[in-house]
Amino acid sequence: MCGIFAYKGEKTNAAELVINGLKKLEYRGYDSWGVAFKTDHKISIHKEVGKIGEFDVSTLREKMNVPIESQMAMGHSRWATHGGVTKANAHPHYSQDESIAIVHNGIIENFAELKKELQGKGYEFRSETDTEVVAHLIQEYKSLGHVEAIKKALSRLQGRYAILVLCAEDNRLIAARRGSPLIIGKGEKEFFIASDIPAFLEYTRKVMYLDDDQMVIINDDAQFFDLKTNKKIEKRIVEIDWNPESAEKGEFSHFMIKEITEQKETITRAINQDETKLMKIADEIKNAYGTYLVGCGTAGKVCLTASYLFAKIAKRHVNVAFGSEFPSLQDFITDRSLVIAVSQSGETADTLEAIEVAKKKGAKVLSIINVEGSSMDRISDYSINIKAGPEKAVASTKATTAQIAILTLLAYALDKRLEEGKILLVNTASQINDMLNPRYEEHILQLAQKIQDVESMYVIGKGVNYPIALEAAIKLQEVSYIHAEGFAGGELKHGPIALIHEGVPCIAIVANDETKHEIISNAMEVKARGGYIIGISPESNDVFDYWIKVPEVGAASPIVNIIPIQILAYQLAVLRKNNPDMPRNLAKSVTVK
Ligand code: AGP
Ligand code: GLU
Repeated sequence: MCGIFAYKGEKTNAAELVINGLKKLEYRGYDSWGVAFKTDHKISIHKEVGKIGEFDVSTLREKMNVPIESQMAMGHSRWATHGGVTKANAHPHYSQDESIAIVHNGIIENFAELKKELQGKGYEFRSETDTEVVAHLIQEYKSLGHVEAIKKALSRLQGRYAILVLCAEDNRLIAARRGSPLIIGKGEKEFFIASDIPAFLEYTRKVMYLDDDQMVIINDDAQFFDLKTNKKIEKRIVEIDWNPESAEKGEFSHFMIKEITEQKETITRAINQDETKLMKIADEIKNAYGTYLVGCGTAGKVCLTASYLFAKIAKRHVNVAFGSEFPSLQDFITDRSLVIAVSQSGETADTLEAIEVAKKKGAKVLSIINVEGSSMDRISDYSINIKAGPEKAVASTKATTAQIAILTLLAYALDKRLEEGKILLVNTASQINDMLNPRYEEHILQLAQKIQDVESMYVIGKGVNYPIALEAAIKLQEVSYIHAEGFAGGELKHGPIALIHEGVPCIAIVANDETKHEIISNAMEVKARGGYIIGISPESNDVFDYWIKVPEVGAASPIVNIIPIQILAYQLAVLRKNNPDMPRNLAKSVTVK
């Protein structure tokens, strides 16, 4: 979680530049924020509770009442894990003597022991965070020299972190990581460090990735070290092909609706993959003794969808686990297993941990990611980039359907029918292009207006569209804050049907496949108890009180069925005055466990 952004270079407005950069990372964490900058032999800090997007940078000088000209600054937008959302808990954190300031993403698991030890030595804590121990610890080892003190402090930490350090007596900007992302951008005589690339895209597209247990020291150049061996590392500069506009909202009111609309093109981009590579991966799946699909949240639902696709299209059984649950299944993993990790960000801590567990057992890992150069991309044996472009709204939309498209293609590849899969998906993409138009959105808006005040709603699906019902519920929950739950249609009668009463909306996802009649019967069971049935289907049916038409696309039905629900969730959020891009309590990349 959290966004980190730092600058060192010749510009003298480092603090303001950092705040503007952080605004682009706000989707990663938005409960509070802060900035630290260095002037002569002093570090100044400004922190606030609330959204950084609402802060007017031109007021910084007046608010701080100190000179703010600086050529080195770092900032943080927080997603609290330890300690409430307060100004004191916001980052950056000073060391006791205020000679050091740090920002941190992640969790220091042994912070309680370290805190006790430091308190015993007279250190006073100003916050409730786990992070603050690191600042004091660096001060504690100060006599070793700045860099060695940081190394020594880091060697005592357990857990995951991305940490940046400013020192009043040192002109170098120092960063290190273990498990949380940090990327270095190289401009003309200037460097940027951020937890995600869009933060500095307007300045440079040249990036260097910091890997786990590595440190970077930025002065006139950037020097990388391996923290385990203490050896210097040469880094390759990678040129990123995202353009700055693709990470901006443009004419749209929110990123979420922009990204939903982009699904007109993203499916076509996703399936444009190297076919030899796809066939090689299909062979890996065929030869594996046990394939495990692993993901969290929406990506986890995509994994479940894929298990149906693999069964139906390729007659192949695969296992599915949420990232956080995978370590409990590790006894089944061997060096002949294959783990397929699905993740938009490529940085989700739970999924990364699953990969680490699998690798320790000698299993092969394939990652399906959207962020090139992300941790998962780099630690996997194979990776497939879904090419959806930057996804900034917290609720995943275009990445979800691109992931499903790739996995559909893989299922066809596995059955040696890659061409057939491609034709199906090209056709699906063109149908989505026709479907996404203002009239369609207006039709869904009318439904949203009708149901905007309900307390609960339910979604049912069957077969390959059962996981889509689960994903639909996540979309509705995270942005509309309406209680929503997804079920397999056939499961209702085993308990959940007791929740149905007059007027409760129930979305029935009805695909034109072998499940159609049963799911229609399930919808009837709900209607008989007063439920209001919203049908998502290529054809109308008498049981539907409201019908949202989707194109008939055969095995690609999960892709088209989730799109109207994404739109509905978005519209409900807007009608209920929620910010769909930054839902409460959530953050885009969950880089803590
Ligand atoms: C999606 O709408 C959610 N915000 C969330 O469930 C997300 O899918 C999950 O955190 C996994 O993220 P990832 O794809 O970046 O790994
Ligand atoms: N654990 C730290 C805190 O609660 C950092 C959280 C984050 O990654 O934003 O402050």
